[in-house]
Amino acid sequence: MPTPLIIDTDPGVDDAVALMLALHSPEVELVAVTASFGNIAVEGTARNARRLMALAGRSDVPVAVGAARPLVHHSPGWAAEWHGADGLGGRGDGFPEPPPGDSRTALALTAEILRSADEPVTIASIGPLTNTALLLAAHPELTDRIGRIVVMGGGLSGGNFTAAAEFNVIADPEAAQRVFTQAEVPVTMVPLDLTMRVLADTAWLATLEAAGPRSAQLRGVLELYREAFRERYDVDAVAIHDAVAVLEAIVPGTLGTTPMPVQVACDFGPARGATVPDRRRGAEGPRVHVALDADVDAVLAEILERVSRLG
Ligand code: RIB
Ligand code: CA
Repeated sequence: MPTPLIIDTDPGVDDAVALMLALHSPEVELVAVTASFGNIAVEGTARNARRLMALAGRSDVPVAVGAARPLVHHSPGWAAEWHGADGLGGRGDGFPEPPPGDSRTALALTAEILRSADEPVTIASIGPLTNTALLLAAHPELTDRIGRIVVMGGGLSGGNFTAAAEFNVIADPEAAQRVFTQAEVPVTMVPLDLTMRVLADTAWLATLEAAGPRSAQLRGVLELYREAFRERYDVDAVAIHDAVAVLEAIVPGTLGTTPMPVQVACDFGPARGATVPDRRRGAEGPRVHVALDADVDAVLAEILERVSRLG
């Protein structure tokens, strides 16, 4: 029986790869997609999620709208320079207008799914952690229905949005602190330390493009992202951050993890949004399973093989 999977997301071009990966992996059943503000505003991320479900012929997967803003403070900004103003690398208009989304809020849809699931549900959170924090706060009675939470986010040795902070975490540090410091649900954190090593190069992109018209459309949304990587990092490849986390959600144990407490800096100093690990022996607090190791070539090949099934 496939494991029920909910993906909380802010598409977002690497989110797009992650969603296609989940739809073409028999180990899981994507039972819902919940949209969050993040790379762009939530209206746009929700529309993009619906567009991507339509691209894969899976508009049967409910897409619900979640948080439009962080829990406490204002969002530090969008990531349009990486994902385009439309969140799909400027290629969103090439997608057919999808059917309307689910009328329930992300919280209501997720709670309903958790209540009725025959087995614990995996949640992959590949955007800001606001929706996930809200779920844990509003429905503590449902935490035993969540098998695990896999988060793309954080960076133990610095960030990408600021020197200290990774984007998903600084988008809502208070939400991230809530998720990483709770003990009710096991959390796997997939940080930049690993995802910035999983770089899809031009050969990878070319293979995806050659897999068929829909794969080519997916590859197209990555072009702006590729240009940004060339400009910012002098590398002709793209980090498919979210897909790495979702592969771990699909095939538990793909990534090598180390348990350690993780706190999030929620002050307004230069370290706001930093994810601070406690590696000390005898450290106190719930452990987060931090993914730092992987066979990078095998992960890239596995993601490519599965996403290419889009055709
Ligand atoms: O820092 C990488 C994360 O921020 C990814 O989830 C990407 O989609 C962006 O939202
Ligand atoms: Ca994302």
